[in-house]
Amino acid sequence: MEEPGYPDARNIFALRAEHVQPLPVDEHGLVVSSRLENLDYVYTTPSHQSPTTVTMPLQRRQALLGSASDHDFLVIEDDYETGTQYVGQAIPALKSLDKTGRVIYVGSLSKSLAPGLRLGYMVASEDLIHEARALRRLILRHPPVNNQLAIALFLSQGHHDLLLRRLRSSYQERWRVLGDALAQYLPELTCSPSLGGSSYWLSGPPRLNCKRLQREAALSGVLIEPGDVFFMSEDSEQTYLRLGFSSIPVQQIEPGIKTLAKVVRAQL
Ligand SMILES: Cc1ncc(COP(=O)(O)O)c(C=O)c1O
Repeated sequence: MEEPGYPDARNIFALRAEHVQPLPVDEHGLVVSSRLENLDYVYTTPSHQSPTTVTMPLQRRQALLGSASDHDFLVIEDDYETGTQYVGQAIPALKSLDKTGRVIYVGSLSKSLAPGLRLGYMVASEDLIHEARALRRLILRHPPVNNQLAIALFLSQGHHDLLLRRLRSSYQERWRVLGDALAQYLPELTCSPSLGGSSYWLSGPPRLNCKRLQREAALSGVLIEPGDVFFMSEDSEQTYLRLGFSSIPVQQIEPGIKTLAKVVRAQL
């Protein structure tokens, strides 16, 4: 499990598996090293690592697949916000490069359409899909069939692709405006390299306490997400924060960052 990584995945795995190991992440996503050699499953978010948003380059993807086949582990590829790459060409999913059937690809409609639908998709071997269906039946039986049918039509008629294109262009503008505002008004914070996604991941100097920052910024009308929940380690990391922009109107971004900058400065 990537460290930092998606807390919901980590907590779900911890309910099922005795040993969940944190695996380091760098500016190219999950690090491929000897740490992977004795694992059964590796969970990763290569498109935009959650929460750092960094994109795994093609070479690293190939190295990860090579390691999976050399050391006999499976890769769970969580492509949770597909289609939100704003710079250069999108890099092929691990699943599309997978020649040995070692990748289980999962995607979600929660970010593009509506989390309340509880619908997503999985690309894996027929046997695994068969087992996953049986397991789902024991867990929640099935999501409402009318929703599944409506979404199947929505996907098959190309509407989801169109929606992704529209989202991409409005997110891209917010991503650019927020990136510029951070560089201009908050140079004290270091921004993780970003080619896309729906948030920025930032770290501040050691004196910054992002839980306190969250409380104080909220009093001025700016909502931020402290980054400590993304870490598995006991000594929680207080200097990281995530700023989501997918539902912030573009004209509110710069004033919000100016306000946040004042609150940050008051802490340093
Ligand atoms: C890393 C990651 N994976 C997956 C999801 C989607 O979860 P779900 O489909 O259960 O809503 C999210 C949503 O926030 C996420 O951040």
